[in-house]
Amino acid sequence: MNFEIKDSPSAQVLIVLATEDNSIPTSLNDVEAGLSDKLTKAAEASRFRGKSGQSLSYITNGDEPAKIIVIGAGKLDGDTARALEEFGGQAVKQTLTSGYTSIAIMGVGGADDARILLGARLAAYRFDKYMTKLTDDQKPSLETVSLVTSVSDSVTALWKELEAAAAGTEMARDLMNEPPNVLYPESYADRIKEMEALGIKVTVLGEDEMTKLGMNSLLGVGQGSVRESQMAIMEWNGGGDEAPLALVGKGVCFDTGGISLKPGPNMQDMKGDMGGSAAVVGAMKTLAMRKAKANVVGLVGLVENMPDGNASRPGDIVYTMSGQTVENQNTDAEGRLVLCDVLWYAQETYKPKAIIDLATLTGAIIVSLGHENAGVFSNDDALADQLISSGVAEGETCWRLPLSPAYDKLLKSQFADMKNIGGPAAGSITAAQFLKRFIKDGTPWAHIDIAGVAWKTGDKSAIDPSWASGFGPRLLDRLVKDHYEVG
Ligand code: BES
Ligand code: MN
Ligand code: ZN
Repeated sequence: MNFEIKDSPSAQVLIVLATEDNSIPTSLNDVEAGLSDKLTKAAEASRFRGKSGQSLSYITNGDEPAKIIVIGAGKLDGDTARALEEFGGQAVKQTLTSGYTSIAIMGVGGADDARILLGARLAAYRFDKYMTKLTDDQKPSLETVSLVTSVSDSVTALWKELEAAAAGTEMARDLMNEPPNVLYPESYADRIKEMEALGIKVTVLGEDEMTKLGMNSLLGVGQGSVRESQMAIMEWNGGGDEAPLALVGKGVCFDTGGISLKPGPNMQDMKGDMGGSAAVVGAMKTLAMRKAKANVVGLVGLVENMPDGNASRPGDIVYTMSGQTVENQNTDAEGRLVLCDVLWYAQETYKPKAIIDLATLTGAIIVSLGHENAGVFSNDDALADQLISSGVAEGETCWRLPLSPAYDKLLKSQFADMKNIGGPAAGSITAAQFLKRFIKDGTPWAHIDIAGVAWKTGDKSAIDPSWASGFGPRLLDRLVKDHYEVG
């Protein structure tokens, strides 16, 4: 699909925004004399008040536009970036498979009009490659989305950046939505290798190399799988000699729970247990596409957690790469066992100026925060605040939860330096405390538990049309843009 910025409307469908205060724009009189009054009457008769979620359609006498859709955007007095994205998303949602091939969306006249195009593009996402029986009517007809704005230079400049963010989000969604028989550690690493075309340096380590490095904890999670575990490293060097920001992702391509087997219902969702890694990969794509002036290294631990004769057992003790020992008391608490070695490798190899990990780590974070916020844990107030404000700016919000020595005590094991689970209480916090034991003193670190936001079912926004949300690339890109770019 083409997304373009124009200064005059010409399309089969014209989409205009209405607010709650001023519901039908008078600009519609330019399309047909008296149209604004006509639609104002129709709005009154039909309870259209410009509220978000409302819309009003009108068929004209001509072909361009053949149809006008007025879409409500609410009061536009709060988070206008989100409201504009949702408006663009609604415009596409209502026309994607309508039969029309072109729409022109009227902007409101600021650089943020680019947000409308972002919403349109995110709403146009489909993951239907395995649907072999779609009828023509079920397939998208829409080919061109034009944004009409009076300030095309500033909108074009912002769109260039948001377009890269959209591409990263789409990549994260694609990786998440793929079934686990198609996306497993090696095939995933192959997809990451393809990002070299963007100027990212990609290195993939297999089991032999990770054995030499002593990454026994990560390898222990993958040892029950016939698929070989991998670690993929992506380096984007746009920032000269600066120490990099390190992004680490949990890439459990499928989490059965291992010998501590998960219950059957909804286990298929555990194909998304690589959501943290997808966020990192998507973010790297975004940074490379917009040629970010920053050094960022992304590292993802890719494994499959399976029950098997060779799988790790509850009671097993492993030497992690850091030298610390872990007693595995529950093979379903595997994410932290993967991350601890990747975090350690990242610090040893890159001496990063800060390190952020993302993971679908605990079901408990869904109990705490539902599907509205990711959980953030950090040893550094400034980094936590930066993440929280980047999340607000991009609509990928995070809520901070505490760390403290009192929670750390819950990881005490009678046989090893620690065990991989705490008690029944504060499950997301004990998981974060576990990771913290693998962060070197003086390294600013944040852990983002995205188990509640990586995928959603039920009532969703128009800009989040597939199972996978693609949470992460926009948040991380914004963090880099606002805090990690050089000169
Ligand atoms: N991948 C899961 C966490 C998860 C649950 C993600 C639901 C998304 C939705 C993780 O590996 C896991 O199984 N965690 C356990 C930890 C427990 C055994 C301490 C959990 O949350 O139950
Ligand atoms: Mn698990
Ligand atoms: Zn998991």
